[in-house]
Amino acid sequence: MTKPALPVVSMDAITKTFPGVKALDAVRLDLYPGQVTALVGENGAGKSTTVKILTGIYRPDGGTIRIDGTPVTIDSANAAADAGITAIHQETVLFDELSVAENIFIGHAPRTRTGLIDKTQMHRAAEKLLREIDAPIDPRTRLRDLGIANKHLVAIARALSVDARVVIMDEPTAALSHKEITELYELIETLKSQGKAILFISHKFDEIFRIADRYTVFRDGAFVGEGRIADIDEDALVKMMVGRTVDHIFPDRGSTIAEDVLQVAGYSHPTEFADIGFTLRRGEILGFYGLVGAGRSEFMQALFGITKPSKGVCKISGKIRVIRSPADAVANGIVYVPEDRGRQGAIIGLPIFQNITLPSLGRTSRAGFLRLAEEFALARTYAERLDLRAAALDQDVGNLSGGNQQKIVIAKWLATQPQVIILDEPTKGIDIGSKAAVHAFMAELAEQGLSIIMVSSEIPEVIGMSDRAIIMRDGRIVAELEGDALRPETLVRHAAGITASPQLEEA
Ligand SMILES: Nc1ncnc2c1ncn2[C@@H]1O[C@H](COP(=O)(O)OP(=O)(O)OP(=O)(O)O)[C@@H](O)[C@H]1O
Ligand SMILES: [Mg+2]
Repeated sequence: MTKPALPVVSMDAITKTFPGVKALDAVRLDLYPGQVTALVGENGAGKSTTVKILTGIYRPDGGTIRIDGTPVTIDSANAAADAGITAIHQETVLFDELSVAENIFIGHAPRTRTGLIDKTQMHRAAEKLLREIDAPIDPRTRLRDLGIANKHLVAIARALSVDARVVIMDEPTAALSHKEITELYELIETLKSQGKAILFISHKFDEIFRIADRYTVFRDGAFVGEGRIADIDEDALVKMMVGRTVDHIFPDRGSTIAEDVLQVAGYSHPTEFADIGFTLRRGEILGFYGLVGAGRSEFMQALFGITKPSKGVCKISGKIRVIRSPADAVANGIVYVPEDRGRQGAIIGLPIFQNITLPSLGRTSRAGFLRLAEEFALARTYAERLDLRAAALDQDVGNLSGGNQQKIVIAKWLATQPQVIILDEPTKGIDIGSKAAVHAFMAELAEQGLSIIMVSSEIPEVIGMSDRAIIMRDGRIVAELEGDALRPETLVRHAAGITASPQLEEA
């Protein structure tokens, strides 16, 4: 390996304080041309704050940013674009009511000589950008009509619409399907070969080791170290990040699985899924595995009453229940924590503790009075169990890091003490250290009699946590596995629809 060239971007002694939190304490970060640098750290370590400083959303309190060795001030989004820095944010702000092309070119649309937006030109340019990233989207489509994955592609196209030398990706693959992730990796290779410097943030270590050339580690807002990926292994990187070794051993499932709680039969939908049937027992964790697009989330939304199945029967504790709305589901003891927690999740503007206790007010109020102390106690229990990193429980959730907001959403639904909880990708966006805490808490709640449906695309999580797992492909259940049959190759084979070779199919 040759020594890398001089950094395009060099951040030095950057500090950023929010009321009560030192988000960044004299950190450094160098980004090199044609190289992918992974910024690694726990939830709340300061990664997104760094991104926001580089993109002109926040001003640092101190420190220097140099571009090609020259100190610069990045005090606005335009200044960042002028410096050749562009970002795909964890929560990119896109506008539902605008078209795809308008979203891509907002703020820098091509104009006609008279100063009006040149729509023809804009659509053509958008089409070209979308084609370059292999996104099969019509630039005239209203953003609202796209799914999450396609919205991400629009965000990527928008980021690349400025002439960038530095591309920042903050957890870009969190909402993408397997195929789109592969395409994103290809896109990153293309950007590298064009000499762009890439800053890549992810909680997925396999991904970091696959695509990054360099790493920088932050812990609690401080710089811990940097180096070449080729010179470090996963254990060492995790240790730098968490400050201790993490043996993620899945909790022992002392299964006290009891009577049937939920029985589903023949659930079908005109386009998304067909003939879904299974039984969930008290105290059980039932995994749902499948490739993205297998129809798992769509089925869960129907079960929770967000969408309507065309047919199917749902029995709760032996009695047929018709669930027409989420309110019906909640009244019947079923709650759903969606994958897209950003949208449907935390209530920004309310403090953490109220976000947790709001849906369970029945539990914390007596005779119409809201007992603040009880609310706090309830919130504290859940916050601790899910390893929430926050300065104080009366802090606005909006100020929490992405991963910590996700923990709040899970906490708030768990606090309602449902009979059945559906967790869609429960540890997505949650760092490797906190994952173990979330898993341990799930196991403990199951032990206490909660029935959990866990939709997960992470094979170790499915195998490590599930008492039984259902595998879906193309909207149908293709297998139900438990015990020794729960093996990675079996899951993959069923999910992908690969017919078994004779050697694989043993007793
Ligand atoms: N606007 C804000 N006001 C107050 N505190 C903030 C604000 N933005 C971030 N913080 C705090 O700064 C710290 C760093 O947050 P940041 O979002 O950078 O974390 P992160 O490393 O991106 O974490 P995650 O992996 O969860 O996305 C956290 O303690 C967070 O609560
Ligand atoms: Mg973040």
